[in-house]
Amino acid sequence: MLPDLRPPAPRPGDDPRGVAVLGSTGSIGVQTLDVATRFPQHVRIESLAAGTRWEELAEQARRVRPRRVVIADEGAYGDLRTALGGTDIEVAAGAEAVRALAQAPDVDVVVAAIVGVAGLVPTLAAVEAGKTVALANKESLVVAGALVEAAAARSGAVVVPVDSEHSALFQCLVGEPAGSVARLILTASGGPFRERPAETFDAITPDEAVAHPNWSMGAKVSVDSATLMNKGLEVIEARWLFGVPADRIDVVVHPQSVVHSVVEFVDGSSKAQVGPPDMRVPIQVALSYPERWPADHPRLDWTRTGPLTFEAADRSRFPCLGLAFDALRAGGSAPAALNAANEVAVARFLDGSIRFTDVPRLVEAGLAAARPAGTLDGLLAVDRDARRAADAVRTPTPA
Ligand SMILES: NC(=O)c1ccc[n+]([C@@H]2O[C@H](COP(=O)([O-])OP(=O)(O)OC[C@H]3O[C@@H](n4cnc5c(N)ncnc54)[C@H](OP(=O)(O)O)[C@@H]3O)[C@@H](O)[C@H]2O)c1
Repeated sequence: MLPDLRPPAPRPGDDPRGVAVLGSTGSIGVQTLDVATRFPQHVRIESLAAGTRWEELAEQARRVRPRRVVIADEGAYGDLRTALGGTDIEVAAGAEAVRALAQAPDVDVVVAAIVGVAGLVPTLAAVEAGKTVALANKESLVVAGALVEAAAARSGAVVVPVDSEHSALFQCLVGEPAGSVARLILTASGGPFRERPAETFDAITPDEAVAHPNWSMGAKVSVDSATLMNKGLEVIEARWLFGVPADRIDVVVHPQSVVHSVVEFVDGSSKAQVGPPDMRVPIQVALSYPERWPADHPRLDWTRTGPLTFEAADRSRFPCLGLAFDALRAGGSAPAALNAANEVAVARFLDGSIRFTDVPRLVEAGLAAARPAGTLDGLLAVDRDARRAADAVRTPTPA
């Protein structure tokens, strides 16, 4: 989907805009609250939602004072309610309550920061309701890009990316005419194993994989960065956000994470967006768009950046990147199957039951579950089948 690059028409009562943060206890959620609470004149936190961590959610709610909080884990409802006793904050639980929160009338902007396919239904609900969606949950577009695109076309929802690479592309595209893009070039840090000999990949531990050199992120996206699946998911996300086909999206490894991505135009000119690796900046861009709000986030010191280097991604050492391109080219439900199998593979790697090098094997097994599926229910059925296929793969127990 081409983002609506025109500033949305100002609406009365827009500022402070009502914001719902889905996934508030996660890495993006916490940083969103950090940004949002600096701008009370612009942002009113209406709602928070999380998965299981009710204590963190209660602490956030006492600090930020939203109108309502939702915990997806129904078993945590009583604890959360007790923890917020004596406040007037509404408390609810369950997946349906998370979905409803994304459509609440007092919410203008939904920050979609749930991890994994669990974010799809509420993100789609926000798009259907015509909200401005600050999108971190790339899995929504990977699994159901066509559905999200169609829903946005119907409702007029504006999707502003939070992912730093897509925020960079979005910022480079503002003001550019339709049809002027030759190529999108997504930069990748290369992850923690860029220089590690491939013959030692079998011995990679979960702790090593979640220790990203440049970014501090949740466990799942950190492992995805280590396998380069994250970049593959981002390529699929870019296809839906910007309407550019796979053969015009490239990936280049840039270990310093200063250049966040590049748009090459049809006349040979290119634009890049640059800055220190700090997710608060793209989060703020997504919240403030089409404005820019002054903030003291770290600046680049151009005399100290050192050399900025670029190299090709090594698809033989990181086969997940190629699998994601294959799934995008195959289309249909292949990206949904890829995503589901990858979620299983990452969970199994993190719990120590498979090796790092087994991740692409499980993903390949899951891809076999792809079949024609044009509806949300159809895609979620593919998701379930791909999970089963990935779960069924037997591998040697890691040493
Ligand atoms: N972290 C980054 O720097 C970064 C950068 C770009 C894009 N992203 C994307 O942003 C998304 C979030 O990443 P993250 O790193 O912030 O993940 P994270 O730290 O693991 O946090 C995930 C959040 O989702 C919540 N959650 C999980 N299942 C849920 C459910 N069924 N219903 C409601 N909430 C649920 C979690 O709640 P509990 O913890 O309470 O269970 C937590 O608040 C991912 O799609 C990721 O790819 C992240």
